[in-house]
Amino acid sequence: MYKIQKIMIITSAVIALFVGVSVNAQQQQQDIEKNTIVTFKQVMQGLLSETKMITQGIILEDFSLVESAAEGIINHPKPAMSQRKKLMKALAAKVATFKGFDEVVHGGAIKIKQAAEDQNMVVIVAEYQKLIMGCQSCHTTFKDALTIALQ
Ligand code: HEC
Repeated sequence: MYKIQKIMIITSAVIALFVGVSVNAQQQQQDIEKNTIVTFKQVMQGLLSETKMITQGIILEDFSLVESAAEGIINHPKPAMSQRKKLMKALAAKVATFKGFDEVVHGGAIKIKQAAEDQNMVVIVAEYQKLIMGCQSCHTTFKDALTIALQ
């Protein structure tokens, strides 16, 4: 009888341990997803590939390609919290200017997506030009300084 009790205690301890470990692993996985580990530079590289796809969509008159690429810009991943903190610190009083450029790109992508749905190439090209200006304006104003700050 005593032996059986001992076995049962050990078994439940082992089960508790496994359950504990797997719950912990799940929690860690969730934490990783919440605090993305994407760097700002990786977000930018993603924007470049989406932008290239919009160009390709325009040239080939492939509206669905334009639409999905614009969608990719609209919903681009957020950089990791640690990167955002560095960014905010470096930008200080210039945050509003930075966000303004970001809004040009984001708003432009929304208009491009809508125009692609409407199969309106004239609007796509007009908005595409503004989008590129948004990328370029932010780069000339902030890129060099922020590349250093984000390291
Ligand atoms: C609000 C500001 C801002 C906007 C808008 C912006 N960028 Fe950037 N971009 C940056 C900064 C800052 C860096 C430097 C990041 C670094 O070095 O870590 C950068 C760097 C880059 C890089 C270089 C990445 C590398 O590997 O060195 C690419 C490519 C890029 N951006 C593409 C784009 C494209 C395409 C758009 C428009 C669709 C865009 N960016 C819009 C701020 C911006």
